[in-house]
Amino acid sequence: MKVTQRSDYTFKYNKKLGRHGWLRLTPAYSVKLVKEIIDNIRGSSFILDPFSGTATTGLVAAEHGLSAHCFDINPFLIWLGNAKCRHYSNDELSFLKAGIELSLAECKEFVKQDHWLPDIHNITRWWCEHTLKVLAALRQALVNQFGEPKKEDVSALAWIAFCRLIIETSAAAFNHVSLSFHDEVTKYEIEQIEFWYLKIVDAIAQSASEDIAGSATVYFADCREPVSINDVKYSHIVTSPPYPNRISYIRELRPYMYWTKFLDTASEAGELDWKAIGGTWGVATSRLQNWESNGVELSDSLKRVVSQILETEEKNALLMANYVWKYFHDMHLHLQNLRSNLKKGAVLSYIVGNSSFYGVQVHTEKLLEDSLKSLGFTNIGSKVIRKRNSKKELFEYCVYAIYEDRGKYEPRFFGAKQPKGEQLALL
Ligand SMILES: C[S@@+](CC[C@H](N)C(=O)[O-])C[C@H]1O[C@@H](n2cnc3c(N)ncnc32)[C@H](O)[C@@H]1O
Repeated sequence: MKVTQRSDYTFKYNKKLGRHGWLRLTPAYSVKLVKEIIDNIRGSSFILDPFSGTATTGLVAAEHGLSAHCFDINPFLIWLGNAKCRHYSNDELSFLKAGIELSLAECKEFVKQDHWLPDIHNITRWWCEHTLKVLAALRQALVNQFGEPKKEDVSALAWIAFCRLIIETSAAAFNHVSLSFHDEVTKYEIEQIEFWYLKIVDAIAQSASEDIAGSATVYFADCREPVSINDVKYSHIVTSPPYPNRISYIRELRPYMYWTKFLDTASEAGELDWKAIGGTWGVATSRLQNWESNGVELSDSLKRVVSQILETEEKNALLMANYVWKYFHDMHLHLQNLRSNLKKGAVLSYIVGNSSFYGVQVHTEKLLEDSLKSLGFTNIGSKVIRKRNSKKELFEYCVYAIYEDRGKYEPRFFGAKQPKGEQLALL
């Protein structure tokens, strides 16, 4: 069996899976992949996902009756993740439906006036003026019933449905790794918006009514720093950090974050991306130009890769070299601090992707293995999961390790045949 693209190991697999499909984020990983990793984990285990994103790990763990904590630095994703993992009573869901009905009735009146619109650059590329007027009226009606978003109660479901509505009615296309736009925007009448919104709310409320056996909570935390939640020590880390490929999560999350007021300005978006590992949006790019490491000792292989990028003498060679350097520097800090959160024998599973800059291959899996080795982890290795791109030689791997040896360990086989020795690295 050769290494193939395996769309079942991507976010596409999650679209029809109840809570997992509420809102998509292209870099989210597949529920199937997480299930394969956690299938053999026992009920007494405690899972941590330090890069929660849309809380795929947390939700899969909770659905399996396990306990999980998740971290993220993006407040929108923390809010979304907690709404996805929460328990909802029948009374709460009835309250939601009643509030939605009142909102839709009010929307008919509100559409005659102008209402607040988010300050999204080139907004008419996303929605036409007419659709915007209807969306703004619905938003105002929802504010009147449920208050502004950000609350951690059942009202979050009304806002998640609204986020889904704005993306479904927009000209954004998510066919690629990052988003692009259709040439034309569609005009939606109020009746169509109402119809779609109700359909989305019904689907979300239906999956929210299905209870989950375990529990998962998403916390605000920068996982490069020491963090402790109630002194819990974790037995498993199951996660997918950003890849060093200059894909910005903020870029894709912008429409949701602006409409829900988690973001107000473009400069805020840049600041948030600068905090993210691998961040690359707006101000993050200019800061990278002058960025210097604060003394974290990194591997010779990384130094070689960084020098090779610099030696290409391409216009942005310094920027890209710093980008790669900072990415592995930040991941090293994360792994270094993570140790104090781990139980003896804890198993780490990191899903990562390799990348390439000006023809210089960045073997993320090998470079992270170097960090793990220097930090005293054992049983370190990586397995290829899938090919990420039809043209370039980009792959996804599971990098694994154990905190404080507990004997022989090798993770499950993720479907793809493992290439022999260094063959893959040299492709
Ligand atoms: C690849 S995404 C995770 C996707 C996730 N597995 C899912 O299924 O949705 C990486 C996440 O790491 C978060 N992140 C980046 N830097 C971080 C940091 N320093 N501390 C905590 N979270 C961070 C980003 O905000 C993003 O949500």
